Amino acid sequence: MKAIALTRYLPIENPESLVDVQLDKPTPQGRDILVEVKAIGVNPVDVKVRAPKDAIEKAPRVLGWDAAGVVQVVGPEVSGFKAGDRVFYAGDITRPGSNSEFQLVDERIVGHMPQSLSFEQAAALPLTTITAWEALFERLHVPPAATASAKSILIIGGAGGVGSIAIQLAVKVAGLKVIATASRPESEKWVRELGAQHVINHFGDLPAQLKQEGFDNVDYVLILNDTDRHFPAAAAAVAPQGMICTIVENAAPLDVSLLKAKSAGFIWEFMFTRSMFQTADMQQQGNLLDQVARLIDNQVIVTTVNQVLSPINAANLRQAHATLEGGRAIGKIVLKDFS
Ligand SMILES: NC(=O)c1ccc[n+]([C@@H]2O[C@H](COP(=O)([O-])OP(=O)(O)OC[C@H]3O[C@@H](n4cnc5c(N)ncnc54)[C@H](OP(=O)(O)O)[C@@H]3O)[C@@H](O)[C@H]2O)c1
Repeated sequence: MKAIALTRYLPIENPESLVDVQLDKPTPQGRDILVEVKAIGVNPVDVKVRAPKDAIEKAPRVLGWDAAGVVQVVGPEVSGFKAGDRVFYAGDITRPGSNSEFQLVDERIVGHMPQSLSFEQAAALPLTTITAWEALFERLHVPPAATASAKSILIIGGAGGVGSIAIQLAVKVAGLKVIATASRPESEKWVRELGAQHVINHFGDLPAQLKQEGFDNVDYVLILNDTDRHFPAAAAAVAPQGMICTIVENAAPLDVSLLKAKSAGFIWEFMFTRSMFQTADMQQQGNLLDQVARLIDNQVIVTTVNQVLSPINAANLRQAHATLEGGRAIGKIVLKDFS
């Protein structure tokens, strides 16, 4: 089967950083399904895993943690899928990724694709949707119904892949008042179109800008970029007894004592936790993808794809990585079709 892989960790300008290879097609065991991959999403995690270092892989390493495709064969213990089903999923960071014509994935972290979407529209969603859903409804404990209308959330990094779906879930599913951050006219336009009622600039003074927008504080803060820079402002902006969630690693220690007087909470979201630790509730990721597929098909929320490259090959994947490395992507970049 065709795949895109690396054996060395090189700058993305180097044509050897990601190369086209031929690999053996795997066979599903246990609860795995074998998926014929039709489209892949590209995420900052791909760039972080590929980042230059001295290590050398003995066998080609396949990255990629977002796919939409068709089930070809199911393992002997699979109960939720059959050959021919259209699926979308992020997969497991500890296993070979989706940048290959065929991929094995545990059925518990797979969703049935929205019927109204093409493969490339669906491939934009899984990783960011799992992240945003878990952050909002499982880490921050936002009620998942339109009962929270008096409550507010600051989403820092609103126009990126995760922000684009988080804004929609916060507004359309939870009924929160959303203040999103964006630093450019085009990213501001994007977050407003997705439903953000207020937009402020993440390179400015966030608490001061919130006040200008009429918010003394916010009930929730979701940090989707540069935790080191934004944590103190999040601590200043969060309401007494409010909650902060971040999805981005910090480089320096975070001063959680800033939250003590407010009895405010701080929590991480890492969307690979369930698959990495094989938690008893792994199936929840498949369930939430199915729920989001229904929200898409019922036109409550929309796909976040913004750029589609074709075919799926090393040259186009290097281009997508280079764009993400720039840190200014709006929505999602997707690649479709292996030939
Ligand atoms: N923990 C997890 O499970 C998890 C899951 C997914 C992603 N992540 C991480 O979350 C981060 C965001 O992912 P993503 O897919 O949304 O990335 P992305 O699509 O590459 O994000 C691009 C956006 O980031 C904004 N941005 C750039 N610098 C910023 C800053 N200093 N502060 C706030 N926003 C800034 C830009 O907005 P402007 O153009 O308006 O400046 C741009 O629209 C990445 O570090 C990724 O690795 C973690």
